[in-house]
Amino acid sequence: MMSKIGGPKEFWEQRFRNSSTNYKLLARRDFSNVVNLLKKFRVTKVLDLRCGYGHWSIVLARAGFYVKAVDISSKAIRKVQSWACEEGFFINVEVCSAQEIRLVEKFDAIICNSVLDHMCFTDARKVMSNIKQILNSDGILYLSLDGVEEENEEDFIVLNDGTRKYIKGKRKGMIWRYYTNEEIKVLCKDLQIIEFKEEPNGRRVIWCPKFENFAYAKSLKRYNLRLVV
Ligand SMILES: C[S@@+](CC[C@H](N)C(=O)[O-])C[C@H]1O[C@@H](n2cnc3c(N)ncnc32)[C@H](O)[C@@H]1O
Repeated sequence: MMSKIGGPKEFWEQRFRNSSTNYKLLARRDFSNVVNLLKKFRVTKVLDLRCGYGHWSIVLARAGFYVKAVDISSKAIRKVQSWACEEGFFINVEVCSAQEIRLVEKFDAIICNSVLDHMCFTDARKVMSNIKQILNSDGILYLSLDGVEEENEEDFIVLNDGTRKYIKGKRKGMIWRYYTNEEIKVLCKDLQIIEFKEEPNGRRVIWCPKFENFAYAKSLKRYNLRLVV
């Protein structure tokens, strides 16, 4: 008999429960570009949306930002909490779904690393609309989305919008979707894209400020930046 395929929450809970990853090493990567850009934007409060192991949160807390970390997995959130405790930082944590997130607080920056790829297009739109509500009027979003990964085609089914739902193998229960550059621009349409970088492995890194309260020219000049699209 085939075992039941859990939803994304069950998938992630299990992944974090069974993980043997030495995730603390992830915080040793060079994040100086990110930290410098956040400082340039005079960011003080950062939301790490779908934080996973929390290495982004830790790096940002070490750099002196106030950090809130949210994730659907309680196991992931517990890992972030105890890591922050070990390092002697306060990181405000919450278990919640990015689609349903309701925060009273607003943030100067939101980090969304390897997040939108794990949902279908409709959910990604919902999350982007939430991000827009949660960002301060001159806040900035960091987004990264993966390139296509070649996988055994028997391991997943493809939903109507091109989203893969894994039904077998080590990713069983995972949702993953490749977003084209055009789709990413549609998702970011309410923000201003100032950087859109595609890496050799197909990963896309995007920075988009909200710039709601500024005359564009004035703010771009202030940050020494220009719009990409
Ligand atoms: C690929 S991991 C990325 C984690 C982290 N941002 C990083 O850079 O390592 C995706 C994360 O999204 C979380 N997640 C999945 N679905 C979610 C949802 N609907 N709401 C909030 N978090 C979710 C998972 O628990 C997992 O931690």
